[in-house]
Amino acid sequence: MIASKLPTVGTTIFTVMSKLAADTEAINLSQGFPDFDCDPALVDAVARHMREGRNQYAPMQGIAALREAIAAKYAELYGVSYDAGSEVTVTSGGTEALFDAVAAVVHPGDEVIVFEPCYDSYVPAVELSGGVPVVVSLRYPDYRVPWNEVRAAVTPRTRLVIINSPHNPTATLLSASDIDELASIADRSDLFVLSDEVYEHIIFDGERHESVARHERLRRRSFIVGSFGKTYHVTGWKVGYVVAPAALSAEFRKVHQFVTFATNTPVQHALAEFLAARRGYPELASFYERKRDLFLELISGSRFKALPSRGTYFQLLDYSSISEAPDMEFAVRLTREHGVASIPTSAFLYKQPPPRALRFCFAKKDETLRLAAARLRAL
Ligand SMILES: Cc1ncc(COP(=O)(O)O)c(C=O)c1O
Repeated sequence: MIASKLPTVGTTIFTVMSKLAADTEAINLSQGFPDFDCDPALVDAVARHMREGRNQYAPMQGIAALREAIAAKYAELYGVSYDAGSEVTVTSGGTEALFDAVAAVVHPGDEVIVFEPCYDSYVPAVELSGGVPVVVSLRYPDYRVPWNEVRAAVTPRTRLVIINSPHNPTATLLSASDIDELASIADRSDLFVLSDEVYEHIIFDGERHESVARHERLRRRSFIVGSFGKTYHVTGWKVGYVVAPAALSAEFRKVHQFVTFATNTPVQHALAEFLAARRGYPELASFYERKRDLFLELISGSRFKALPSRGTYFQLLDYSSISEAPDMEFAVRLTREHGVASIPTSAFLYKQPPPRALRFCFAKKDETLRLAAARLRAL
């Protein structure tokens, strides 16, 4: 028998709910991916690069044109200069970037502060490096970071803090003062920070993305993770990146080199063209804000209560006036009996009891949202 290194991990909830949606022919608002296509010009660009023979290994750190376009985006949006040669690395999705960053800094026995609810890859990545996850709870309904509890959770063994803004699944944002709090804790205890910013361009109502990159002291101890899957509606292509100071990037690349070595070559070339031409990301926020507003308008009058969605393409809906059932049970019932699949927030929790709320993905065609909302209104 094999002794599992991840004994408590089963099939992810995203796979479970998407399969249940397919089996029951429910509308799938569970897993976070668009049901519409990406820009056909992006597909044409990938095909062109394939036909032109860019089909062999890319450089380990990513092709220069894409790294330069990423560095230019950070200069434009956040006024910071990352060196494309030594501080930007292209990865096979944000997930690989998160894993490599954890593996690069966490030694056996090191403690890593994570906030629940949290994206499901963080804790297993920490555990596979022999680290100890220290979970701090963000609490329903406003999910603010309790900085006093964070300070109390720091010990001499603390090595890394993992943050995520805009936040999956709660659709909340960290503020500039949250970032200041984090910077002072990280400085005082000499911690690294892993900032998952894969939804950086999906932010609503004129609010500003408080990237860790904006904070000069904090950025010197931080890995920032991005994902082209979210930005260009191509979650299946699995291309992302990390920006981090040279010393951190050097250690990051040692891991990346042996996890995937290099990322899909023709896709990198196509993304480099789009990013350098500033395509896609400047209008992404308004594109998804309109979808959020449509979804909210469509479900108004239902018995679901919408929590504020300030960023990401997720919407939490409180169902406590419909049912007392635990969230997993209610999510399964909603899929089987009412034909709408969602994700229970308990899938993102480790220690606090789950609220009666489900996560719905609105990265869907308007007609999909209309159909789903009609079913939700009928409850
Ligand atoms: C918060 C968060 N981080 C990271 C990822 C992974 O990104 P990728 O699909 O590029 O691996 C996701 C994807 O859903 C996510 O929601």
